[in-house]
Amino acid sequence: MASIDLQGVEKRYGAHHAVRALDMHIEDGEFLVLLGPSGCGKTTTLNMIAGLDAPTAGKILFDGRDVTEISAYRRNVAMVFQSSLLYPHLTARRNIETSLRYSTLSKVEKQARIAETVRMLEIEPLLDKLPSQMSGGQRQRVATAKAIVREPAAFLLDEPLSALDAALRLSLRSELVNLQKRLGTTTVFVTHDQIEAMTMGDRIGVMSGGELQQIGTPDEIYNSPATLFVAGFLGSPPMNLIEGEIAAGLFRSEQLSVPVAAPPGRATLGIRPQDMHLVAPDAAGALPVTVFALEHLGRESIVIAEAHGGLKVRIIVEAGFSAHVGERLGFAPDPARCLLFAQDGTRIPMRASVLA
Ligand SMILES: Nc1ncnc2c1ncn2[C@@H]1O[C@H](COP(=O)(O)OP(=O)(O)OP(=O)(O)O)[C@@H](O)[C@H]1O
Ligand SMILES: [Mg+2]
Repeated sequence: MASIDLQGVEKRYGAHHAVRALDMHIEDGEFLVLLGPSGCGKTTTLNMIAGLDAPTAGKILFDGRDVTEISAYRRNVAMVFQSSLLYPHLTARRNIETSLRYSTLSKVEKQARIAETVRMLEIEPLLDKLPSQMSGGQRQRVATAKAIVREPAAFLLDEPLSALDAALRLSLRSELVNLQKRLGTTTVFVTHDQIEAMTMGDRIGVMSGGELQQIGTPDEIYNSPATLFVAGFLGSPPMNLIEGEIAAGLFRSEQLSVPVAAPPGRATLGIRPQDMHLVAPDAAGALPVTVFALEHLGRESIVIAEAHGGLKVRIIVEAGFSAHVGERLGFAPDPARCLLFAQDGTRIPMRASVLA
């Protein structure tokens, strides 16, 4: 087990800057999720931690020791990918055994280690099967066993669940977290799925365009996004973002105005779909809208509505709510739940006094 540090890590492919000025500390035993859209540099970052790819600049440290020049094998990390790398001609048992081929453990110790791993992942019935005789989920479980049996310093996973169906993904999600907590192995888990990130990570590092936008607990990332990108990327349905201008303690857009305690200038107001409340369309502070669609989710419903200028907003309402397409409604954002972002995408802090 190890802590991992990235210090000013960069990766360029010719003129293309895949990862920029990346500084990150991962605690020993932590489950860190790297989250971001396709092409943002997640796999590149993971491969540099693994030693499969060399940074163009910067350093990578394991437990404070510089491993930048050290080979993948000697870093003693285990990787699991989207489509697991099992030898097709070997049974599950033989596949797992290959991971300990170069280990200095005695034969008895190796067998004990394998037995423990098999027990933990509950793959006893699969041991004599070939990969072609297993389901996708079973293969991922065997691949996981193959990865953890070496007791690696770190466990690196690149979208290991994304090729599986929704139900299996859901159950493997909690299994993986449970396993990681029992083993206590430092884990970096890459995904573009925000639900996976929110439910699995001790902390989440959100990347965009090769840059780390924010790193924090799921609660920090969700409730206190550092940038407009993070605000819009996490949350389902996504946060409503309204462009406007701050002047004299008011945020004003084409559609509404909200009291804010922030300096004047152009800004984007962010408000989550659950933080807007039904009011009369002409009430003070209301956002007047026309209902575009109503989605019933069972426990709640989502109103998708159009405001002035073609702005689409989503509002979560209680399950029994009914409205017809084209109906005029008003929704007022809770001023205490509004976030503001500057034009460069950074968060504008609001002074607490007005929020009280
Ligand atoms: N070997 C390479 N040569 C040139 N460009 C590359 C190479 N590998 C990655 N890139 C580029 O670097 C950027 C980051 O790629 P990376 O694979 O890290 O993204 P990702 O976040 O893992 O995306 P995805 O979610 O699609 O897997 C992309 O723009 C990609 O095209
Ligand atoms: Mg990738």
